[in-house]
Amino acid sequence: MDLRQTGIATAPAYSLDRGRSLHRWLRDMRLNHPVHRDPLTRVWTLYRHRDITRATAGPAAFSSELWRYLPGEMGTDALTAGNLTAMDPPRHRLLRDLVSRSFTARAVAELRPRITAIAADLIAAVADRGEMDVVADLSDPLPVLVIGDLLGLPREEWGLLRGWAQRLLSFDKGDLMDGAVRKRVEDTQKELLDHLRIHVRRRRADPQEDLISRLTRAEVGGERLTEEEVVNFADLLLLAGHVTTTLLPANIVLTLDEHPDAAAEVRADRALIPGAIEETLRYRPVIVGNTRVTTRAVTVGGEQLPAGQFVSLSFISGNRDEQHFADADRFDIHRDARKHLGFGHGIHYCLGAPLARLELAIALETMLDRFSRFEATGTPVYYDTPGVAGPRSLRITFRHH
Ligand code: HEM
Repeated sequence: MDLRQTGIATAPAYSLDRGRSLHRWLRDMRLNHPVHRDPLTRVWTLYRHRDITRATAGPAAFSSELWRYLPGEMGTDALTAGNLTAMDPPRHRLLRDLVSRSFTARAVAELRPRITAIAADLIAAVADRGEMDVVADLSDPLPVLVIGDLLGLPREEWGLLRGWAQRLLSFDKGDLMDGAVRKRVEDTQKELLDHLRIHVRRRRADPQEDLISRLTRAEVGGERLTEEEVVNFADLLLLAGHVTTTLLPANIVLTLDEHPDAAAEVRADRALIPGAIEETLRYRPVIVGNTRVTTRAVTVGGEQLPAGQFVSLSFISGNRDEQHFADADRFDIHRDARKHLGFGHGIHYCLGAPLARLELAIALETMLDRFSRFEATGTPVYYDTPGVAGPRSLRITFRHH
């Protein structure tokens, strides 16, 4: 069972029809079974916005330290030490504070020229073709270049990092049950961690001005982070900062393509870009949910949950909750979408949100600057990986200005 999987076994796959059937199904769950326990997996799912935010706002009752409740060797924090997403207060706060300075809106604004140059180069490389794959040609390379830079990983290695991230994404729901596939995923993860470990050792011996060097010197409660903590932290930043940002531009392009009026508005007034990005994060989030575990008996949405229950938070459903967002199924770039769950909510709210917003805005600005028009062609190809909803390939044709 993949604990990160949101929803239950019978939910229609997002890839079936760009999420239409899934959203119909989620609406029914919100109305009729807003707090539901899947008989097969025994995982509870919260479908309503207010129940989800109650859980994300209450880490004392809804813990992120799932490993504490897993059997055998999975029941240790060996794999998650240093991973913010799998940590509760107070350690979570201490560790998050270490890196949060590097990710404030002001700090990441300094990266604008560099990200703009990377995006311009990527678009220039395909400009003569008149068509491109938004994912392969722009949104896959862009974030790994940016996060690789921040972490201080040598440029020659960025190709390798992309390869690992790709492989980690390229397994699907059915495959997870397949031991050989699971082994491939574990091997890939190990290769990536071993590689990062070499780099962390290098930086410990010879610190530079990058995030990994800072982490190797940082102290929490008077103690240096262990090597494993730094390695896992770098791994988290690399994957969290890469995969998500790879998927969202295609969702933006696809959604604007389906809403030509909104697309024309954004083209005419670039000040609407941030609104279009937030609304896409609500309307088509790429992280469909996450999981917590109850530390004590708790009542949510009128249901009694005992201690030790895995609880999946369906961000994708909360984002369409009609009790929270008026006309929730309508894509509206003018709405106040700030309370969307596309970046989560509470103490685990996406650390990289300012960076992601910047990268996404620059990607869209660059496309609007270079292309007088662009439109999606053919059918987007989706990842079936549980927990994410975004195309791994989206072809567009374009014309130059
Ligand atoms: C479109 C891009 C992105 C999306 C949709 C996204 C989404 C999310 C979501 C939903 C969470 C919350 C998970 C939870 O509640 O358990 C999260 C957490 C996190 N994200 Fe992002 N993310 C994006 C980009 C980034 C970037 C660029 C970075 C930067 C390096 C990043 C780093 C993180 C980290 C470190 C956490 C864990 C924070 C914590 O547990 O305190 N993300 N992200």
